[in-house]
Amino acid sequence: MISRRRFIQAGLVLATLPKQMVLASGRFFRNTFQVPKLETGKRVGRDVYFDLNIQAGKSSILPNKITPTLGINQGFLGVTLFANKGDKVHIKVKNTINKTTTLHWHGMKLPAKADGGPHQPIAPDKTWKTEFDIIQDAATLWYHSHQLHKTGEQVYNGLAGMFIVGDDKSKKLNLPLEYGVDDLPVIIQDRDFNSNGSFSYLSSMMDSMRGMLGNTVLVNGVMNPVLKAKKSLLRLRILNGSNARTYHLSFNYNRPFYIIGSDGGLLEQSIKVNTLRLAPAERVEILVDVSDGGTPILQHTAVQESSGMGGMGMMSGMMGNNDKNMNIFRIDATQALKSNRSIPKTLVKHNNPQKLAVSKQRRLVLQMQMGPKMMFGGDAFSINGKTMDIDRIDEVVKAGSTEIWHLENTSMMPHPFHIHNVQFKIIARNGRIMGHELGFKDVALVHPREHVSVIMKFPKFRDAKTPYMYHCHILEHEDRGMMGQFVVI
Ligand code: C2O
Ligand code: CU
Ligand code: CU
Repeated sequence: MISRRRFIQAGLVLATLPKQMVLASGRFFRNTFQVPKLETGKRVGRDVYFDLNIQAGKSSILPNKITPTLGINQGFLGVTLFANKGDKVHIKVKNTINKTTTLHWHGMKLPAKADGGPHQPIAPDKTWKTEFDIIQDAATLWYHSHQLHKTGEQVYNGLAGMFIVGDDKSKKLNLPLEYGVDDLPVIIQDRDFNSNGSFSYLSSMMDSMRGMLGNTVLVNGVMNPVLKAKKSLLRLRILNGSNARTYHLSFNYNRPFYIIGSDGGLLEQSIKVNTLRLAPAERVEILVDVSDGGTPILQHTAVQESSGMGGMGMMSGMMGNNDKNMNIFRIDATQALKSNRSIPKTLVKHNNPQKLAVSKQRRLVLQMQMGPKMMFGGDAFSINGKTMDIDRIDEVVKAGSTEIWHLENTSMMPHPFHIHNVQFKIIARNGRIMGHELGFKDVALVHPREHVSVIMKFPKFRDAKTPYMYHCHILEHEDRGMMGQFVVI
């Protein structure tokens, strides 16, 4: 009781109240939903030029506090980049912060030199120029820092934004398509704060073991936002931009919604669901019908310890279960105008790699090593027994070939596994395949003792010297060794 009163005095009432009371309070959502500025670049024919500035900012996220942040063309997080399939983008990235960083185009099929991974660092005051053709279909991609051993910290501070790819096929589908009106980016991230308002990062050993989990959830950098819906049918492009938290998303009162897209673009068919699991770095596009003029809340429901840690009682006991129910944001549709958009049943046809001849299969075992390194820092997470070494090429892939990778998790934590430069299909798993996992993916969540097999056709970019990465997208695991490199030749 005493500690609870102390919480209330500290202004953290909501954290200690039971969930129902939070839900009942409309005033909980008092901040305006922020739509990141749309940046379409300067266009000359099919060439599109972007000027990006990695910068430091001071943001007001908490009431009466200033949080030092990082952003791209703004103080916190990045502007939303937009380009079409068939465009050639030319991107200049200027680093005006006093740390070396990178910008990686997550989910993009592109030459290794343009990838923006750890091999393309941008020193302070330097500018990185890159260009690539957009060869893939419409999709919700993103971009973020990929600085070796610093990705977690830099993304946490704000170096992440959305990158939307458009194409003609998707424009014909009568889906909501007006950015900021009925087509909205929703970047979900959890953060912890120090009492002076600054972000708190890795304040405990647990943070760096299970990955950084924050107690406050932000949407596009804002806490408790309310989105005043302008239209009765909304398309939400949800990006889990969190360092480590997997969300189990649903609307209150079980409002159904429709999944139309996954990491790699639109699904073949829309799927009606009530809930959805989104691991770090995963994206999903959903349609929400708010023509009832309601005020639904998107919420995260905590998983029970048994399932959250894959049934490993010892692990969850040791690490504590930091998961909790969270209200993410509210939609206020009381003023929404009737939309003339629809919820299509069929969307786009996929070129399924399942139909192609497989030239190679690989096995990647995701591991964690208990012991002093795990406890006191260092490379405690590995793939096939190896921790990340920027001078070692782990796998060599033939350009244009189709491969199956078998991901096996022998550790006690789930790992959202990501591969650069491809969009794969999940073809087998000894757990449950979720709705959006029927689409093209660049991240697959692998639970403890799970085997997930993915199939993909590698694009035809060849570069024997510059590798792409594959890694766990719990950024603290990536930073602590759970990453490997492949070249395409
Ligand atoms: Cu989202 Cu290797 O990246
Ligand atoms: Cu990536
Ligand atoms: Cu991991």
